Order: sequence, then structure tokens, then C-alpha cells
Amino acid sequence: MLTKIRFSSDFHHKWFIFELLKIAENISLKPYHTFGIEVKARYLAELTDRKELPGFLSSLGKDHKPLLFIGGGSNLLFTRDFQGTVVRIMTRGITVKKENPGEVFLAAEAGEPWDDVVKFAVGRNWGGLENMSLIPGNAGTAPVQNIGAYGAELKDVLWSLDVFDLGTLESHTLLNSECGFGYRESIFKQAKGKFLILGVTLKLSKKPVLKLDYGQIREELEHSGVSDPTLSEVREAVIRIRTRKLPDPSVHGNAGSFFKNPVVSGELLDQIRFEHPEVVFYPFGDQFKIAAAWLIEQCGWKGRRQGDAGVYPNQPLVLVNYGSASGKEILDLASQIRNAVFEKFGIALESEVNIF
Ligand code: EPU
Repeated sequence: MLTKIRFSSDFHHKWFIFELLKIAENISLKPYHTFGIEVKARYLAELTDRKELPGFLSSLGKDHKPLLFIGGGSNLLFTRDFQGTVVRIMTRGITVKKENPGEVFLAAEAGEPWDDVVKFAVGRNWGGLENMSLIPGNAGTAPVQNIGAYGAELKDVLWSLDVFDLGTLESHTLLNSECGFGYRESIFKQAKGKFLILGVTLKLSKKPVLKLDYGQIREELEHSGVSDPTLSEVREAVIRIRTRKLPDPSVHGNAGSFFKNPVVSGELLDQIRFEHPEVVFYPFGDQFKIAAAWLIEQCGWKGRRQGDAGVYPNQPLVLVNYGSASGKEILDLASQIRNAVFEKFGIALESEVNIF
């Protein structure tokens, strides 16, 4: 039985727009995260207006805590029921904040699906996001792991973001340089639970310079007979590549890359190259990034399946829930892969996904 409970503030005696949905037997989180694991939260709240946040927080009782704020749920693995309140950030809105002849500053509320923001920008011929087409998740969670694909990263286009400090209960604007961005890294990942991202402002170009050198983008465009691509054609090419290589979460639960590509010293790379001259690597500062997909494939894990937990055959960096895998089964699979890669190559793979 679903009972809808609305909280009112003792102070204002007004109902907030958010609703705390409570089910006596607790609520399934399966529809709210892309791994599709069957776990429950004690409470689920949906926030649709950032202005309601302070009132919402002050109206919570002790048994509503801890809180877990989620966006599209595309980078989460739940291994057990959540004994507090899961808050879905569902604030929407895309607006042009300011513009000049060369640039547009585009603001998106945290709950905007990321790909809607990309589509909006590409549709107006504003460049910078096209290579990041079809990445699952929302605008407000994109900065947490500094999303990236095909040679572009969020940090290359992010101008500033609005955050709510959950300690001081104050809102701030942080500039790109204050966010500690690195490869799949940010201060939001490091200091979990300190800030809630309310919105992002992206600096886009009205005179786009296309980035076509990464991976198969150029190849894909050539294959479809495009020699001087538009932003839309780049977006479509990226969508085709992603669709071929990565599983659709609405069909098979997954959270994209489960591991980060490891960064290693030149010395370790040389040792690996000695035995495996074909190793796939890229320069990364004064170190080297090795394709984790290659490492996993070399260890024989590509395409393997244990019950409903599996390693995706087209991209072994992605772990898949083929139906009713539990979070623990996925985690167990991940740890076997990690052990195998460590034993063979002496490299400790780090998880990219947040585990609860
Ligand atoms: N490879 C193999 N075996 C395979 C698949 C790939 O050896 O079965 C090798 C290939 O040589 C390939 C290389 O791995 O050239 C890299 O593969 P890919 O281009 O698919 O990229 P990736 O490094 O595995 C990263 C991101 C992806 C992003 C792609 C494209 C990380 C952890 N992952 O994957 O991001 O889409 O590049 O830019 O950096 C995500 O973060 O969730 C994600 C999907």
C-alpha cells in the first residue's frame, strides 16, 4: 500500500512541493538506478524545486537519516537496503544565462537529464558537449565524476556550479578551478556528503571546434560518408558508437564503466610491454593510462557471466545485471576481476562506481 505523506514546516505551516513517499514495507529503488538491483529504501523523497531544500532538510526527523541524494542513479551500486531517505533531485530547467558573439553560458538545473542538455546545445549549434552525447545521468551529477567520453570531459566546458553546503545549509557558486577536477575525480567525489549540486553553468562555443581524433569518431563519420561534419553529425556518430558498444540500461542493468582506466608509471608500462607489446595505452601527463578493458580481456573475463552478473562482451569495463543479480554478486564479480588483473599485471583497478 502506498501512502503519500507530505511534510509541513512547523515554522511556516505550508506544504512543500516535495513529497515524501512512504511505503510501509519500504520502497523499491529498482526503478531509480540504472543497475536495476532490487533493494529498498526506508523513505524516498523527490525534490522538484531547489528553493524547497532548506525547508525539506529542517523538516526531517532522526529516523529519516542518513540521506542519499541521487540524480539519474547511473553511477551507483546498491549492495543492501538503504536505511534512511533517498532523495531524488528532479529540478528541471535549461536557460541561457548570458552570451556574447563567441560564447554562450548555458545553465542547467541539477535534475535535467544530461543528454537533454547536450541535445539542447547541439540543436542550437553551440559546441562543447557533442562528444559527451548519450552519457546517462543528470546535469547535477555529471561534475561528481567529471564525466567524459571521446576526448571531451565536463571540466573542459564547465564554467561554474551552484552548490548547497549540507554542513552550513548555505548556497554558493563554485568556479571550475575550485572543483578539483581530474580524470573521473572532483571534490564532490572526495568529500562525499558535503555539497549537493543544484545546477551547472556550461561555457559553450558559437564557433565550435570539433574534436574528432579520439577513437572511432572519424572512422564512424567516414563510414557514413561525412567529410565536413556538423555538430549534429558528430552527436549522431557518438550515439551510434555508444549504442553498439555499451549496454542500454533499460535492457540490461549497468552503470557504464565499472572501473577507471589505471594510470601507471613508464617503468610499469615498459614491464608490461616487454611481455605484451600490443598493450593499449595513452600518455597521461608524465604517466600512462592503460585501457582497463584490455587488461580485463587479457585475464579472460570478457563476456563471462556468473548467474545474472556478467562482464559485457562488447566492453568488458562494464559489468551487467542480466536480470536479478544482487549488488553483492556484482561486487563479488568485480573483486574477482580486480584480483585477476592484480595477479597478472600488478595493477590495482579502482572502481568508478559509488558503492552503497
Ligand atoms: N578494448 C579491449 N577490449 C575490448 C574493448 C576495448 O582491449 O573488449 C581496448 C581497445 O583497444 C580500445 C580501448 O580498450 O581502444 C579503449 O576502449 P574504449 O574506447 O571503449 O574506451 P574506454 O577507455 O574503455 C572510456 C570511458 C568511457 C567512455 C569511453 C569513450 C573510462 C573509465 N571509461 O572507456 O566512459 O565512453 O572511454 O571515450 O574512462 C563511463 O565512464 O561510464 C564510460 C562509459
